[in-house]
Amino acid sequence: MDFFQYQNEQLHAEQVAVADIASEFGTPCYVYSRATIERHWQAFDKAAGQQPHLICYAVKANSNLGVLSVMAKLGSGFDIVSGGELLRVIAAGGDPKKVVFSGVGKTEQEIQLALQHNIYCFNVESPAELQRINKVAAQMDVKAPISIRVNPDVDAKTHPYISTGLKANKFGIEREQAIAIYQQAAAMSHLQVKGIDCHIGSQLTDLAPFVDALDRLLALIDELKENGIEVSHLDVGGGLGVPYQNETPPHPNEYAAALAERLKGREELTLVFEPGRAIMANAGILVTQVEFLKSGAEKNFAIVDAAMNDLIRPALYSAWMNIIQVNAALERNKAIYDVVGPICETGDFLGKERELAIAAGDLLAVRSAGAYGFVMASNYNTRARPPEIMVDGEQVYLVRERETLQELWKLERKLP
Ligand code: LLP
Repeated sequence: MDFFQYQNEQLHAEQVAVADIASEFGTPCYVYSRATIERHWQAFDKAAGQQPHLICYAVKANSNLGVLSVMAKLGSGFDIVSGGELLRVIAAGGDPKKVVFSGVGKTEQEIQLALQHNIYCFNVESPAELQRINKVAAQMDVKAPISIRVNPDVDAKTHPYISTGLKANKFGIEREQAIAIYQQAAAMSHLQVKGIDCHIGSQLTDLAPFVDALDRLLALIDELKENGIEVSHLDVGGGLGVPYQNETPPHPNEYAAALAERLKGREELTLVFEPGRAIMANAGILVTQVEFLKSGAEKNFAIVDAAMNDLIRPALYSAWMNIIQVNAALERNKAIYDVVGPICETGDFLGKERELAIAAGDLLAVRSAGAYGFVMASNYNTRARPPEIMVDGEQVYLVRERETLQELWKLERKLP
């Protein structure tokens, strides 16, 4: 459930008309709803129930300081994948002691930064990374808390670009090698083995792969114990899907209940979640204006002022994202359009073959754009990235200004 609804046929973000936001800040623009973020975060928190748990919001999904500050005020933890994300979390008021650090290529500088800030845990993805963390921790004379990211080899049945738990993926350590690698870690002077971790993919709409992965991890925890290695937390990663079209992903309640069922008798184990999309996707929209309508030989095009540089998911993953009218009361003829941007690429589309009743000048909203939207935006075609706006009830906050064109080449130099 989200708080983007029609009131008198006008799309609203909470109590604010989206058209008013567009006229104040221009288009394209991203609009987020604070109440939706909080609702989704709390759904995870409640669903985890009595099991000790830590929700580490996956910062990569949307790393705007305004968004992170809302999460920080809820007491959230954070899943980061770079030193930059750690500094963002801190700048937004987040607690670094609730940070888990994922990713296959952590640099020495990033490891040092994370140790300086006493993060909760490193999710380690290779033996070479273990050595590197041990070395940096030794130089700093501290013990680094680590988990091993185990690749459970389950098929998440999602888009191949966002499936991460198969043997063929670059992520994690093979299950068969896990015991040996835990033993190596336990023997290293400046590491403290704390947990076990996995993440099998994103936009999962079925519970079975989550449960399969959990079963494999629990079996491994038991095997580790037999080998004298005890872990105090189990990080199940992120990946819970959202409805973009007619998918029916499990509610966080169902998801957590399925996990809790398997965790009976292990009440001492802290459960760590790393949700990104499930919290943010439906907490944001991208608002765009129709520039022209154009009838081609075979197709009609609605050329809008947002493009693949603003929102790349349709172009990159053929992702289907709902496109709706901001003013549903306008009398227009219906037609089937490809909704395309001004960028010089055939792949520059936001949606294909959509039935819309629109005219030039009308506003459209791309739904479910709060996750992997702005964060994946670029300046391709020397286009300034759009502003981001957070609505909270009747309040409207500009949480990132529109870039200026001069900023785009500020770091560049002409030759003499
Ligand atoms: N934890 C780890 C280690 C991850 O790699 C990811 C996402 C998450 C948590 C959060 O997953 P979520 O709950 O958001 O599914 N750009 C793609 C999605 C890439 C996801 C990468 N990893 C998209 O737009 O669909």
